[in-house]
Amino acid sequence: MPRPIQALIHTDALRHNLARARAAAPDAKVWAVVKANAYGHGIERVFESLRGADGFALLDLAEAERVRALGWRGPILLLEGVFDPRDLELCSRLGLWHVVHETRQIDWLAMHKTHAPHRVFLKMNSGMNRLGFTPEAYRAAWARLDALPQVEEITLITHFSDADGPRGIASQLALFNATTQDLPGERSLANSAATLRHMGAHGESAPGAGGLRSDWVRPGIAVYGSAPDYPEHDATHWDLRPTMTLRSRLIGVQQLQVGDTVGYGSAFTAPQAMRIGVVACGYADGYMRVAPTGTPVLVDGVRTRLVGRVSMDMLTVDLEPVRQAGLTADVGSEVTLWGRASNGAVLAIDEVARAAGTLSYELMCAVAPRVPVEVAD
Ligand SMILES: Cc1ncc(COP(=O)(O)O)c(C=O)c1O
Repeated sequence: MPRPIQALIHTDALRHNLARARAAAPDAKVWAVVKANAYGHGIERVFESLRGADGFALLDLAEAERVRALGWRGPILLLEGVFDPRDLELCSRLGLWHVVHETRQIDWLAMHKTHAPHRVFLKMNSGMNRLGFTPEAYRAAWARLDALPQVEEITLITHFSDADGPRGIASQLALFNATTQDLPGERSLANSAATLRHMGAHGESAPGAGGLRSDWVRPGIAVYGSAPDYPEHDATHWDLRPTMTLRSRLIGVQQLQVGDTVGYGSAFTAPQAMRIGVVACGYADGYMRVAPTGTPVLVDGVRTRLVGRVSMDMLTVDLEPVRQAGLTADVGSEVTLWGRASNGAVLAIDEVARAAGTLSYELMCAVAPRVPVEVAD
């Protein structure tokens, strides 16, 4: 028998969440963002559920090839563009659309020999200061691209640094709009947070959305069922459902007396006599070693907490709340690290991530290759 740990991918939830993103921006086309192997879910596993999107956005050329190999003939966008002039060959061959954020990428395009002109997304650095042309350089870059026979169409794109928080998008949006107002072409501005908070029916800037026009929205994390602005809002607020469950079982139980300690560094001391469960899940499975005592866990669908340090292959949980719920957890009992328990109880990945001082994105991406993955409804 393999170790009892398992990740489940919930295809119905993926479909549902994509529909939520679309409903938040009903006039926009939707990129399903599937970079980082579909945020750790596996491109091949999510593909069928997300093929209702208008395109797939990612950044690895190998991932683009995988999406084409699945039979997708629609748009694919390389969010960081090409990394090398030779990558343009693949763009021509597979019909990939690509971001242009750097002068060198324009130079490479100008030298590229192709019969099929490219669709490019010209990126503005409107304040994030990661990728893109400054507003001062943007129009010259646009004019250069526009003059190239290798370029068929230019879409204008930028990325917000604070769409999920109180700073919001106003200053970046104002800069973007001022710089681009008379430029033709479609716009792509909104990630999950901008789509839900600033475009949707719930949107803080709706109606009118403060001039946020995004012909293509780029939701990632919302598609994977996590609230982009947790803890201000949780996934239920946005009607998003978990798409990934990390589940395991108890492989041991210990009866502690008051003063007994648990695990490496004796990081937890029993304040009273209590049972603890030993779970087949550790940091080598992708669970966060830094998760402290108190991080929520479900045992047999009952909410309890991690106690002591997470080790490579195991972690330990308090079984008292399970007993108080009238259940007797024992070896073989189901443990839900995040996602949906068999009894339907949900432990939001956002809550687990926050307890460990990180974000759901990191947890999803970190599930280790040794964890078997099953595709479920
Ligand atoms: C350019 C770009 N667009 C969209 C996304 C999707 O963001 P989110 O997962 O927050 O919706 C990302 C993710 O980092 C990104 O880099």
